[in-house]
Amino acid sequence: METVLDAQHNAPRTLVDRVIPKEAQADARARASRLPAIELNSRAASDLLLLATGGFSPLEGFTDFKTSSGIVEDMRLGDGTIWPFPILLQTEAALAKSVRPGSEVALKVNGEPVAFLEVEEAFAIPHQEWAKKLFGTTEAAHPGVAGFLSGGDFSLAGKVQWFGDAAVLGLDEYWLTPKETRAEMAKRGWKTVSGFQTRNPVHRAHEYVLRTALEVTDGLLLHPLVGETRPEDIPAEVRMRCYRALLDEYLPREHVLFSVLPAWMRYGGPRESVLHAVVRRNFGCTHFLVGRDHAGVGGYYGPYDAQHLLRSLAGEGLGIEPICFDEVFYCRRCSSMASKRTCAHPVADHLILSGTEVRRRLREGLALPEEFTRPQVAAILLAAAR
Ligand code: ADX
Repeated sequence: METVLDAQHNAPRTLVDRVIPKEAQADARARASRLPAIELNSRAASDLLLLATGGFSPLEGFTDFKTSSGIVEDMRLGDGTIWPFPILLQTEAALAKSVRPGSEVALKVNGEPVAFLEVEEAFAIPHQEWAKKLFGTTEAAHPGVAGFLSGGDFSLAGKVQWFGDAAVLGLDEYWLTPKETRAEMAKRGWKTVSGFQTRNPVHRAHEYVLRTALEVTDGLLLHPLVGETRPEDIPAEVRMRCYRALLDEYLPREHVLFSVLPAWMRYGGPRESVLHAVVRRNFGCTHFLVGRDHAGVGGYYGPYDAQHLLRSLAGEGLGIEPICFDEVFYCRRCSSMASKRTCAHPVADHLILSGTEVRRRLREGLALPEEFTRPQVAAILLAAAR
């Protein structure tokens, strides 16, 4: 695939397409059954699908050592394109040593062959050094670091070719490829589209961000992440019911495109906000919504670090415009959602519930206030917590 650079943004305009055409997929499956196979875990399976369908454009496969090192060091690919996280196919040493560079292997998800990997390289991952640079810490209490450190000491690099069915990843009609997403946006005549990333059940602060975006761009891509998250996060299947309740009852369907992003959470704060933004660019968004502590966890990142990083990269070829929000809350004296930018009242008038507090209330069967979550959403969460 030829990558054409957008003159203004120095960002790739064309999407990578590593999906084998439908009519050749039966042959591909037959060929794959004769190859040595590697079973992927859910994180690698998510990455594979995004690589193959162009969600990770301009990448065409799992990144090699040189490319990964450049990404870790300065968030750039060899040609200067912004890219924040190496896309690794982590494996154990024995497996990495058993595959020959130059050979081809089949990649399996839940026992089913779904793709080819043209093995270019197997390399040892400098875990400690990369964890520090990617996450700002090597503490295993950080869920992204923990997954990285325990995910395998080697990585396999190479281009992929997909011939599987996305249903093996548990995806349904809410999965749209970047190409399909862009086509739908074009069909709706949207020139500007805000992308919204979320890994949590939708609450009123999210809704405020979504509504504000709808005021200033033609359309909204409500794009929850549905790949692996940490066990204490609310499962995607429950969250999907919450988003649908909000869409059914509160948001204008004609301005909202609702589909899922089959990515996993790295909890990488600012760096991950860059990944979330460039992926939404690939799905056709022109703007990316970023609020407080985007993709953060615990106290590892400053609440506005992600915004600072995105803003600094926006002028350097990010290819998507961040729309940034201060912390949003319900203000009892304004009787509305607000932020420090729009409200004059002291913190004592603000209703702010942390994720930990919300989880505690749900565990104990306590109601969530209407000022925090819409009642339809609260009911779904309470029922799921029982
Ligand atoms: S995230 O890991 O996907 O960032 P979450 O689903 O909670 O977590 O957040 C989705 C988006 O909404 C992020 O951009 C986040 O910064 C923003 N956000 C969440 N809560 C608030 C809030 N109270 N005020 C402002 N922005 C928020």
